[in-house]
Amino acid sequence: MKVVSTQSSQVLAGRIASNLNLQIIDTRWKKFPDGELYLRATDTAEDILVVGSTLTSDDLVELLLLKDTFLKSDITLVLPYMGYARQDKQFNPGEPLSARAIAKVLGMGVNRVITVNIHEKTVLDYFQTDTIDLSLCSSAGEFIEKLPVTNPLILSPDSGALNLAREVASVGCNEYDHLEKTRISGEIVKIEPKNCNVKNRDVVIMDDIISTGGTQAIAASMLMEQGARSIHTVGVHGVLSEGAYNRLISTGISSVSFSDTIERACSVYTAAQEISDSINKIWHG
Ligand code: R5P
Repeated sequence: MKVVSTQSSQVLAGRIASNLNLQIIDTRWKKFPDGELYLRATDTAEDILVVGSTLTSDDLVELLLLKDTFLKSDITLVLPYMGYARQDKQFNPGEPLSARAIAKVLGMGVNRVITVNIHEKTVLDYFQTDTIDLSLCSSAGEFIEKLPVTNPLILSPDSGALNLAREVASVGCNEYDHLEKTRISGEIVKIEPKNCNVKNRDVVIMDDIISTGGTQAIAASMLMEQGARSIHTVGVHGVLSEGAYNRLISTGISSVSFSDTIERACSVYTAAQEISDSINKIWHG
């Protein structure tokens, strides 16, 4: 087995290859004058691990080109971050079910797909091939243990993500809760933990995806007003659109950290171990 990756997931792919002692295939990418992508892989493989997150449309095209290059091989597609997974329903008439559209095209011709903390598990069915969704809760929990916090309260931004907070908190036997939004008036909303008091406490807000950071920024400023001693943000996927990192830091959040499912300067823990363990299990039982 060999490993090949898109340009935006090369560090994670390298970590997986190194964990599994596999060769990584050198790829040459360029853009034609009209903007179309060109790829040439310098090696072949009977079994191939194709690694690539799809944050941008170019990432998606790169992944499709890689899949096609190795179509004769046994392909394990590792999709650390799946773009469009949040449009997992037709919320309004006339909308596509975007997650289905993307999953169908990515699943075609591959033997199995490995995702990481996919936003909604029902999306896995759309790949129409074998799927495994991995959780980085243990790694996130271990990372939180290294933060400069004492007896931290782990908060999810809403009740839907409470399981994530619970699993992450269990690593350090920490307390967990979820934030609740109460509308005080037409213009004023209050956000506070459902059951816990944050006064003089170190708080970690944990979410799967942080995109604009809007949810976290509003929550953080309210938690500070409620007397929180410090607030740290930890996410799995650092989408970070529209200047989200600076938005969060300027709110007074002490640190903003993610895994390397999307490769960022603030990717401080890795998905490589979970992915490598899962591949070992597939191949060696
Ligand atoms: C939503 O369902 C996700 O779990 C995140 O809470 C959401 O994507 C965060 O979005 P933003 O960072 O734009 O507030």
